[in-house]
Amino acid sequence: MSVSRILILGGYGSTGRPLTQLLFQTTDAQLIIAGRNLTSAQSLADTLNSGSGAARAAARHVDAADPASLRAALSDVDVLVVASSTAVYTENVVQAALAAGVDYLDVIFAQEKMAILQRYAPQIEAAGRCFITDGGFHPGLPAALVRYAAPQFDQLISANVGSVIKMDWRALHPSPGTMTEFVAEFMDFQMLAYENGRWQQKSWLSMMKPDTMDFGREVGPGFGRQYSLPMYLPEMRPLPDLYPGLQATGFFVGGFNWFTDWFVSPLIMAGLKLAPRRGLPPMARLMKWSLNTFSRPPYGTLLKLEARGFKQGQPAGVDIFVFHEDGYVITAVPAAACLLQLLDGSARRPGLHLQAHIVEPNRFLNDLQTLGLTVHTKPLPETHPIQS
Ligand SMILES: NC(=O)c1ccc[n+]([C@@H]2O[C@H](COP(=O)([O-])OP(=O)(O)OC[C@H]3O[C@@H](n4cnc5c(N)ncnc54)[C@H](OP(=O)(O)O)[C@@H]3O)[C@@H](O)[C@H]2O)c1
Repeated sequence: MSVSRILILGGYGSTGRPLTQLLFQTTDAQLIIAGRNLTSAQSLADTLNSGSGAARAAARHVDAADPASLRAALSDVDVLVVASSTAVYTENVVQAALAAGVDYLDVIFAQEKMAILQRYAPQIEAAGRCFITDGGFHPGLPAALVRYAAPQFDQLISANVGSVIKMDWRALHPSPGTMTEFVAEFMDFQMLAYENGRWQQKSWLSMMKPDTMDFGREVGPGFGRQYSLPMYLPEMRPLPDLYPGLQATGFFVGGFNWFTDWFVSPLIMAGLKLAPRRGLPPMARLMKWSLNTFSRPPYGTLLKLEARGFKQGQPAGVDIFVFHEDGYVITAVPAAACLLQLLDGSARRPGLHLQAHIVEPNRFLNDLQTLGLTVHTKPLPETHPIQS
């Protein structure tokens, strides 16, 4: 089989850099690191090449806003990885990827991206291309964890996934474009979870008295009990159909810090309702200031699945934790683990797919550990109460 050529758009960004490094270490693919800053792309390519003695990484100037630049960049490529904050240019990217006949994986979390990809889904399938979207950690991991745990039960009753993301924002330098994309998601934030056998929308008032989830003390710095709000992820939607009898499932996101949660987030939501487009840049700056100013250690990113059900007629349960101290590494590793399955063809199917549903979950979780994440599985005693 010939060696794959992978172009990583945003390959030197916060998520792109560890993803590029992982692909360099774990595959023999030719990597093309791309973005608008050729110097940054070249510098990472040089570092990788000189560390290994093999010239497998190269740099390319690409601007996702410019369809001609995308088309030219993809002419000699097999797989496009989108690790850039370019949700607004999704149509350009998808059209160029289809024209070039490449496979695709993105780590972008944005509803506008998903809507565009869904419009192109029939063309993607007809072209025989494999497009994987919602890659990374969240989205990307929660439903994969449920698929991994489900075979451990004869009947799965509840499968809730929560996350704690505590980052030292002062040490990070997300670009204004990335912050704007991040804050734009507040406009589309849906507090939707599956409870008592149906999808239910929580009211905004529930933000005043959020639920909590216990993240325990045994993994990472021991975050203990944290606030958690339901956050709709498309990958959770198919789960009740996949596991008949499932009464409760959802993804629940923890807070940032007290000031951002109680003051800035509600202000941003109100501000973006009044001025959806004009409000974005100032709200992105407010968010960045608030995260920089009020975030405090301990830092780390943790995902926890609480799965409950029955096994051989007895109540059964399992908690699964996935942790890394670096919030970008925990994003890059699942994307790399998914790409390993795409590159060897085992997860390659024509059409538009979600990362969490296309991966083979046993190998996926195994690869998460091999690639550097902590994965801790805690079976619960048979007498553990069922939560639904
Ligand atoms: N699924 C998950 O778990 C997860 C977690 C974290 C982040 N993300 C997503 O990952 C994406 C990147 O986030 P990040 O934090 O890594 O951002 P970042 O550090 O700001 O990096 C963004 C990268 O995109 C490139 N880029 C921006 N605009 C571009 C354009 N028009 N054309 C080509 N390249 C462009 C940037 O390079 P230049 O500006 O030099 O062009 C940079 O390399 C975001 O969409 C974010 O939502 C997903």
